Amino acid sequence: MGRRHLISLDDLDDDDLRWIVARGADYAAGSLDHVRPLHEAVVGVLFRKTSTRTRTAFSAGALRLGGRLITYGPGDLQENTGETAADTGQVLSGMLDVLVARTVGEEAELRAYAEQDRMAVVNAMSAGEHPTQALTDLTTLTRRFGVVDGLRVLYVGEGNNTASALALGLSRFAGTELHLRTPFDYGLAPDYLHRATIHAKAAGSRVDQRHDLLDLPEVDVVYTTRWQTTGSVKHTSDWRTAFAPFQVNSALMDRFPGALFLHDLPAHRGEEVTAEVLDGPASAAFEQAENKYHSARAVLEWCTGGVR
Ligand code: CP
Repeated sequence: MGRRHLISLDDLDDDDLRWIVARGADYAAGSLDHVRPLHEAVVGVLFRKTSTRTRTAFSAGALRLGGRLITYGPGDLQENTGETAADTGQVLSGMLDVLVARTVGEEAELRAYAEQDRMAVVNAMSAGEHPTQALTDLTTLTRRFGVVDGLRVLYVGEGNNTASALALGLSRFAGTELHLRTPFDYGLAPDYLHRATIHAKAAGSRVDQRHDLLDLPEVDVVYTTRWQTTGSVKHTSDWRTAFAPFQVNSALMDRFPGALFLHDLPAHRGEEVTAEVLDGPASAAFEQAENKYHSARAVLEWCTGGVR
């Protein structure tokens, strides 16, 4: 079977999306500890930005599934001296089975790597979207609630690449609600909001965005991410003033008794979330981080044509 790329969640049909999410939960449950779908496969791991969770999840995942690794730092490939991404992808596809890559810009570089079908390309976070984070989050919700359908999520903070992926993923599950509450000028990019709205119409789910914390609906989950998304810089001096009202603290969580708190990490306690919430009983943030490893194994199995 040819390799399958995962550059945007929109590359997955509904069956594939649900399969990866459920498979991540199966890996987490330990029922697949014996499988080695990457036996003899070679996985390239290219990170142009810092990473603790995603890089380790895919590296450990590939090794545990029987694969081998080649890792590249930000300046290792000849793209730094002018070789094109398409040429790079063509060359690597003759040697690697999978390339897991965190890039600096939008998806174009990843799409150029993927102009071949011998090596699967996995987006480990681009400027616009963090698809493997959303798959992790959906697996986390599955583990905690049993099903994703019907869940109501309040996302508070910047409309960054984690939020865009969450919107593209959650909106495809029937009856879900995603309420994005973002500072003015820091909302979800219009293209992602538009695509998520189209999914919502098809799935009977809901995605909306406002720039305040008024009239909050009942929700099952409160989600935030750090205010300074990895590798990005804010260009105004007073951005913290805009973000301050969007901190997730006990006063906010008390409005949703029984709600789960999620954070993709890394966190800055005292900024987007208080220590009391992040380290408190409602928080599943560290379980969510571990789920990156389980979900990464599901992604690697899927993109190399593993058992379906
Ligand atoms: N959440 C996340 O992507 O973490 P890392 O940047 O550490 O990979």
